[in-house]
Amino acid sequence: MNELNISEKIPKQIRKWTCHKLECFADYIEAYTRTLDNNKCCYLELYAGCGNCICKGTDCVIEDSALRALRTKTKFDKYMFVVTDHQNARSLKRLSTPHDTANTVEIITGNCINEKVIQQVFDLIPRSASSLALIDPPGYRKLRWSTIKKLAAHGKDWKGHKMELLIIFPLEMALLRNLTRPECEASITRLYGNRKWQEIKQNKLVGKIGLGKARQRLAELYKAGLKGLGYRHITDFKPSRFSKPPVYHIILASDSDSRAKILEEAWGKERYLPCELLYSRKDRP
Ligand SMILES: C[S@@+](CC[C@H](N)C(=O)[O-])C[C@H]1O[C@@H](n2cnc3c(N)ncnc32)[C@H](O)[C@@H]1O
Repeated sequence: MNELNISEKIPKQIRKWTCHKLECFADYIEAYTRTLDNNKCCYLELYAGCGNCICKGTDCVIEDSALRALRTKTKFDKYMFVVTDHQNARSLKRLSTPHDTANTVEIITGNCINEKVIQQVFDLIPRSASSLALIDPPGYRKLRWSTIKKLAAHGKDWKGHKMELLIIFPLEMALLRNLTRPECEASITRLYGNRKWQEIKQNKLVGKIGLGKARQRLAELYKAGLKGLGYRHITDFKPSRFSKPPVYHIILASDSDSRAKILEEAWGKERYLPCELLYSRKDRP
């Protein structure tokens, strides 16, 4: 836990489930980097935050996913963070600088669905390098299939693998609640890149399926889209702690067969949070 620096913008407030997600992610990224050997690999985060966040109720200040990715024992060759505004960029720059001893961190300010912003990212990835992208949008409206398609089509590494995508899929109540609202049609179609989701909506409307089935089918449809992009392995994991049904699904698209196990170990493990008595930092770098 860090001291909160009140002289600057208060970090984003988060709930316990987000803290849990960040703890799981720290384990995932640590285990992931251990598999890299000497292969060149770049880390990309599309919806990066300001570097830290504050837990609602406990005022516990914790590092966000960007800082956790920078902390692994084995390092990526390059880190690219797309942040939406200058304030977040300045904060992330300040917090990431102590970790950037090899000058490998790039902070790009802009809207990550913007063509030019994505191109800026692609220009930074060396040819034939592997890459992993964390895609953690603040709700389904901010995520577009066109962005996912671009990432998948960017190019292959020397093993013939596409960019790996770790998607925090926002299958939260908002998507389900808005499923039948005409004014949300366009944003849901942009999320999926097609209108097949409307069949799920229709089945839900006429009572053919319930909420649970609709949720499951919405996740399945997204995974089918990723499969259609040519990924060999699509893994879906539902974190169960703090919210049932889960606020999000983690969907991993990869051409490597070793990642699913890492994902299940990181997100499936029983764990304590930094605000809990039995929390131990012994596994953290
Ligand atoms: C759910 S948070 C994820 C933050 C980070 N991955 C974490 O868990 O610590 C979503 C972040 O996306 C940023 N954001 C929102 N719209 C964006 C956009 N169009 N492009 C880039 N970032 C965006 C927000 O500022 C917010 O920090």
